[in-house]
Amino acid sequence: MKIIVAEKISDKGMEVLQASGAQVDLKLKIPREELLAIIPDYDAIVVRSATKIDEEFFAHAANVKVVGRAGNGVDNIDMTAATKHGVIVVNTPDANSVSAAEHTIGLMLASSRKSPQANTAMKNRIWDRSPFTGTELYRKTVGIVGLGRIGALVATRLQAFDMKVIAYDPYIADSRFEKFGVEKKETLAELMQEADFLTVHTPKTKETLGMIGKEQFSLAKKGLHIVNCARGGIIDEEAIAWAVTEGIVVAGGVDVLQDEPATTSPLFDLEHIIQTPHIGADTVEAQDNVGVSIAHEVLSALRGEVVPNA
Ligand code: MLT
Repeated sequence: MKIIVAEKISDKGMEVLQASGAQVDLKLKIPREELLAIIPDYDAIVVRSATKIDEEFFAHAANVKVVGRAGNGVDNIDMTAATKHGVIVVNTPDANSVSAAEHTIGLMLASSRKSPQANTAMKNRIWDRSPFTGTELYRKTVGIVGLGRIGALVATRLQAFDMKVIAYDPYIADSRFEKFGVEKKETLAELMQEADFLTVHTPKTKETLGMIGKEQFSLAKKGLHIVNCARGGIIDEEAIAWAVTEGIVVAGGVDVLQDEPATTSPLFDLEHIIQTPHIGADTVEAQDNVGVSIAHEVLSALRGEVVPNA
């Protein structure tokens, strides 16, 4: 068996793959044309979010039987094309959820206390407290869009800050809202009207792309704080810039951009929107979990065994 690892996974994950006796080739950041040229030699590929696994890929990947997505979101993989070509796609939906939830809360705290901006001032040898007056989370209302794995982890953690947690998720049973002590909002509009803090935790689909735009921001209270650790564009980037100029959004943390890796974005010039380069899942623990899980899943799928996250 030949497996190509096209994006970095943890050493522990690599060890699991290598221990199987398969030939494992680590080919990081290879140009697309090169990947397409060598892919016919491989039985499986392991990727994260940067590699587009689309119809063109499958047309070249005659021997690929398994695509392993080391992580949760599969928006870089054309699932219809995978099915058409008889390729199994496996991912690791639970392995990095805690890290993503913690990064969400980290960005919420950091942006509401302007900690990165204060840090930059200090590093420039400027001691001045006055620009950095922040906002407490205590007794504020946080609106969560998407009460799946990560949304629920964020909800329970923010309850410890004495926040009121409301959520909008038309795909989730009422019992899940009850289980997590979260107030259900029937519409996104209601959530937007009530939230002091907004965080999104949905996959990127045709339905969720741009789901928070100017129209939704227009419903919000002035002074809204936002976080996007899910996928770029779920909160529309132009709309964020507009909402900042209108005084609707006053702070925020964004880990993901619509076009990654990104060198331009309307968010780059917004002082109060802090940004990180899609590192929500980048912790030692999450990467070990993800690497080991995806390695086992890819090997099981190649052996024709039952795979939990196929
Ligand atoms: C995920 O979908 O698992 C995260 O966004 C992290 C990643 O893309 O690797």
